[in-house]
Amino acid sequence: MSPSVAAAPTTAASSPILSTTGLSASYGHARALHEVDIRVGEGELVAVLGPNGAGKSTLLRALLGLVANSGEVRFRGASLPRQNAVAVASRGIVLVPEGRGIFGPMSVADNLELGAYRLHDKAEFARRRERVLTLFPRLKERLGQVAGSMSGGEQQMLAIGRALMAGPQILLLDEPSLGLAPRVTGEILETLGLLNREGLAIVLVEQKAPLALKLANRVYLLSLGRIAAELDPRDITSHDDLAQHYFA
Ligand SMILES: Nc1ncnc2c1ncn2[C@@H]1O[C@H](COP(=O)(O)OP(=O)(O)OP(=O)(O)O)[C@@H](O)[C@H]1O
Ligand SMILES: [Mg+2]
Repeated sequence: MSPSVAAAPTTAASSPILSTTGLSASYGHARALHEVDIRVGEGELVAVLGPNGAGKSTLLRALLGLVANSGEVRFRGASLPRQNAVAVASRGIVLVPEGRGIFGPMSVADNLELGAYRLHDKAEFARRRERVLTLFPRLKERLGQVAGSMSGGEQQMLAIGRALMAGPQILLLDEPSLGLAPRVTGEILETLGLLNREGLAIVLVEQKAPLALKLANRVYLLSLGRIAAELDPRDITSHDDLAQHYFA
């Protein structure tokens, strides 16, 4: 991977853009997230790592109010309304979900347009679209193509592009590398690194720890729905370091 995929200087000391206190979430009677406290500083890229079923996707859903939850989520100092995903999204908290969530039968151009459905400013729409197509030139070549016929990597680029069309203040990504070849994963993460260096706060959920560690300012390890550790990626020099925390 190119050296440009390096973590931006940490801004953890700055006041958080997003933070949680005692955030719990349940599916029916089954609790999947237990009293989670995390914070994301302005301009920070925070990775959330953990094995299958650790609660990574549930944490993102709970941040957005997409799953029954309790506790507090604060965005730029103000408490977010809970169980109200529309209100949360309108603050600019945008999720690229696991499995991408693009509309397969629709064209690339229409998928991008949907990302900006709240936006009525045509000039701003054009600016965002140009930006996305500059970041992902492959989408530019395929604007008329049906999204579902693109490769997995192109679909992930579209999912991120669509999220950027919404004008995020903070971008939440759920395993963007899932099912992708290393090369296209590298390209996508490089773009995320670029967006972060430009100041966009990012929460990156990943199972592939080495990739996330290259980008992250800070790392949370999630295990059985709880934060098992908060780490500085610079302190993690080997896989064993991580394994120690996973299995502690
Ligand atoms: N819709 C649901 N209904 C009931 N239980 C669920 C639901 N979604 C997730 N769970 C349960 O919640 C727990 C956490 O799941 P979650 O999907 O958040 O894990 P994850 O860390 O994202 O895993 P993966 O790496 O496989 O995506 C698991 O025990 C899972 O079975
Ligand atoms: Mg998941």
